[in-house]
Amino acid sequence: MSGDKTVKKHKKPIIEVRDLYKIYRLGDTRVHALDGVSFDIYKGEFVAIVGASGSGKSTLLNMLAGLEPPTKGEISIAGKRIDRLSESELVAFRRSNVGFIFQSYNLLNTMDAEENVAMPLMFRGVPREERLKKARKLLELVGVLSQARHMPNQMSGGQQQRVGIARALVSDPRIIFADEPTGNLDSKSGMEVLSLMQRLVREEKQTLVMVTHDNTIAGYADKRIRISDGKIIDVEYGEFAKELEGRDA
Ligand SMILES: Nc1ncnc2c1ncn2[C@@H]1O[C@H](COP(=O)(O)OP(=O)(O)OP(=O)(O)O)[C@@H](O)[C@H]1O
Ligand SMILES: [Mg+2]
Repeated sequence: MSGDKTVKKHKKPIIEVRDLYKIYRLGDTRVHALDGVSFDIYKGEFVAIVGASGSGKSTLLNMLAGLEPPTKGEISIAGKRIDRLSESELVAFRRSNVGFIFQSYNLLNTMDAEENVAMPLMFRGVPREERLKKARKLLELVGVLSQARHMPNQMSGGQQQRVGIARALVSDPRIIFADEPTGNLDSKSGMEVLSLMQRLVREEKQTLVMVTHDNTIAGYADKRIRISDGKIIDVEYGEFAKELEGRDA
């Protein structure tokens, strides 16, 4: 009964996935990590891909982010097919379209927080002062500006993940991907990081696709795509997603 079907057809999805397969060969056996998956994601959505260990969540996320090619099927990001791109085209695609948040933060230990956040802008040839200025702005947005000159080992896990989120945002990506972003955090800092991500999606009109095996964590998302054995078994919408769908693109 929600406005779902009626409103959605007026908007173009930012991610379109059609009949996607990923088959890994291990000796003589073939693992169907993704077994015919189709769905759409719209700008401004916070989407959780939920499922048990081994269900294919990371495989799916890595293909959406252009880290791994599918065996078969289509992936379009902002109307551009990425399933047929070469490795160098994918590198360029990722640099200008994608931000990634990792479970283990992946900060460089030899750089302080602001240098870590500024890193992706180096590849774009942004001058150092401008890079650091933007990095500080993002550290402020995620609430760790006072740690700007701290090295990763001088910060808590929750603070490091905030730096990781700032780094994912710094290049103004079209989409942010996160694989178990709170997997290394205790439940309190995990919840704080999730609330932060939820706020950023809403206030900054970002699109965030997060993988988790945990239903409570998935509860922070506007839309939950459940997978099992490489297949979608259910798609659920939260209240905010229904509101979003009622808006114009
Ligand atoms: N490089 C690979 N080679 C062979 N099989 C793989 C490879 N990567 C993943 N798989 C298999 O594909 C299936 C899906 O793996 P995937 O990593 O996507 O699961 P997941 O849902 O992310 O699990 P987890 O919650 O444990 O991270 C599993 O059966 C896994 O063993
Ligand atoms: Mg995984």
